[in-house]
Amino acid sequence: MSVSQVVAPGSPERVSGTPSVLALPGASEELRVTLTQGLAAVNALLEKRIDHADPFIAQASGHLAAAGGKRFRPLLTILASELGSGVNDQVVAAATGVELTHLASLYHDDVMDEADVRRGAPSANAAYDNSTAILVGDLLFGTASDIVADLGPEAVKIQAQTFIRLCAGQIRDDRPTPADADPLEYYRGVLADKTGVLIATAARYGAMFGGCPPEVVETMRVYGEHLGMAFQLADDLIDIASDAEETGKTPGTDLREGKRTLPVIHALASTDPADDRLKALLVGDLSNDADLAEALTLLRAHRAMDLAREETYAVARHAQEILDPLPDSDAKAALQALALGVVDRVG
Ligand code: IPE
Ligand code: IPE
Ligand code: MG
Ligand code: MG
Ligand code: MG
Repeated sequence: MSVSQVVAPGSPERVSGTPSVLALPGASEELRVTLTQGLAAVNALLEKRIDHADPFIAQASGHLAAAGGKRFRPLLTILASELGSGVNDQVVAAATGVELTHLASLYHDDVMDEADVRRGAPSANAAYDNSTAILVGDLLFGTASDIVADLGPEAVKIQAQTFIRLCAGQIRDDRPTPADADPLEYYRGVLADKTGVLIATAARYGAMFGGCPPEVVETMRVYGEHLGMAFQLADDLIDIASDAEETGKTPGTDLREGKRTLPVIHALASTDPADDRLKALLVGDLSNDADLAEALTLLRAHRAMDLAREETYAVARHAQEILDPLPDSDAKAALQALALGVVDRVG
């Protein structure tokens, strides 16, 4: 792997040449080398722990890891550890535990979202079947817990509480917004739970096992949660704005599933009669490809996207501000750059 840019194997950048969230503009060469070596150690441990004596299980568990992925969460863990004494075996184990938890959630998410493509490859539910995708996801959650158990009871408790919130977020994401809920507030709560908390844990573990004092660990947890919210807000924009070659996923999956993401909430709030067609499409059945394509075209050109993008940047800027009390360092500057990288990404 080149040390001039920190890019995980199979990441969207390698595939399409678009800027990767992991490119970290402005990071020092020394920090890039540290991150690259840390990620290589995580990838090696991932590969070892995903392997299984049963060839079918080994193949199905390795399916998504082999397909690529940005390795954003382990990168964050390693970067956060650099605020303290830096990468060590516990940091690598924690980063691997977080990536395995993420990976497992992707197996389940594609069943829930009826997604056929992930990381530019057939999703596990498409390549195998729903039962296999669910059980392999469970198995990978188990492997993540096994790794985290070696890090002590505090790490296990954090992992357990993270997992509870992630699942609660996914359950609520899969259901209609309750009639009495404010759609924006509800949406923010869902994204903090389904995505924010695991990214918060990635940052928190890095600071914890990098030997940072408790107040820095807490700063990283809060930063991570906001970074994670910005990450999911950007993912929701990407579902509408990006191409399959950039994301390795099928555009419009959220629209087809009737998800009330931020651009959709803004578009539906419009009282302009010119938006009637878009609104009718968004509340209707988008299982037909032509209707979905029309909704995507109309939404891409709509001001709702600008509003949603502005809010996404605001959340990323807030994440950056949380870092203000930390002393200046290479790692802090990279964490600040990461917040904008998350929003600017196209895949
Ligand atoms: C996708 O996460 C799921 C979300 C929480 C949005 P990533 O965008 O990090 O997926 P990979 O790991 O790079 O495939
Ligand atoms: C998934 O959100 C969040 C998880 C906890 C896995 P999405 O459903 O938007 O993720 P993608 O777009 O399929 O990666
Ligand atoms: Mg999905
Ligand atoms: Mg989903
Ligand atoms: Mg998405």
